Amino acid sequence: MSPLHVTRTLAEDATDAALRADVLHGLTATPKWLPPKWFYDARGSELFERITELPEYYPTRAEREILATRSGEIAAASGARTLVELGSGSSEKTRYLIDALPLAAYVPVDVSESALTQAGEALTAERPELEVHALIADFTAPLTLPATPGPRLVAFLGGTIGNLLPAERAEFLASVRALLAPGDGLLLGTDLVKDERVLVRAYDDAAGVTAAFNKNVLAVVDRELGADFDPDAFDHVALWDAEREWIEMRLRSRTAQTVKVPALDLAVDFAAGEELRTEVSAKFRKEGVSGELAAAGLELTHWWTDAEGRFALSLSVVR
Ligand code: AVJ
Repeated sequence: MSPLHVTRTLAEDATDAALRADVLHGLTATPKWLPPKWFYDARGSELFERITELPEYYPTRAEREILATRSGEIAAASGARTLVELGSGSSEKTRYLIDALPLAAYVPVDVSESALTQAGEALTAERPELEVHALIADFTAPLTLPATPGPRLVAFLGGTIGNLLPAERAEFLASVRALLAPGDGLLLGTDLVKDERVLVRAYDDAAGVTAAFNKNVLAVVDRELGADFDPDAFDHVALWDAEREWIEMRLRSRTAQTVKVPALDLAVDFAAGEELRTEVSAKFRKEGVSGELAAAGLELTHWWTDAEGRFALSLSVVR
């Protein structure tokens, strides 16, 4: 069996320092905010997996439909021998690509070591000729890729680019572009603008799984920084910002309360009804995607959607 290489580029204590900095900045800002990357501890990742199975949450099924039906076309257009997947998680939907591409190497990149080793071990057992080189890394930080055969295809799926703010997206796309040589490509998953009711329901499901996922960030801050957030003292809010074309998730304080964060020597006052922003999930149009790619020096060469036109995969091959 081919070996599973695991490289850590993320220092063990970097995560803790980043959480402290984000919580300090976010909870002392007006309006208050916390970045969405802190949702994903073990419980948050499990809640996210449950979200992807909800009847209201269509993006995962829509993207899987595109991958299932278009992997052959993606393979023909990219001819990639190395697939780099940013934020690979369970690598579940990626199987369609791995099976269709003439791959020599698969490079999953994720902050979760357990997700990487689980997915990597299953894959090396199944595909002994495939070199799996897992990178424990934050995809928003600069990456050094292992020396594997080209052309390379960098995949960033799930619509996760929508969780970055426009300036962060521009910086992220430019850093991906810098990794690519002629013949390499970027495969990008983006959720699309659609009826507001459909969008809001996807982020405010009847079973309350997204509400629990949203409140989980408070449990993360409690556990990691000794804070005394009571998740039940906040209400889940999901709203559509029609101007910026993004969904925002917020947590609304039910009462006036003070939350202590001992690790930061911080006391945070919330007014009754005050909201804390926890996630932006931008929705795109084709022109917007091609414009943002062009600004990063990438040309949109292929565009595929599911049959209902809810979600898109775009491919940029570097000339
Ligand atoms: C991480 C982009 C897949 O923004 O839709 C799901 C995370 N947040 N429900 C998204 C999420 C609330 C999700 N992605």
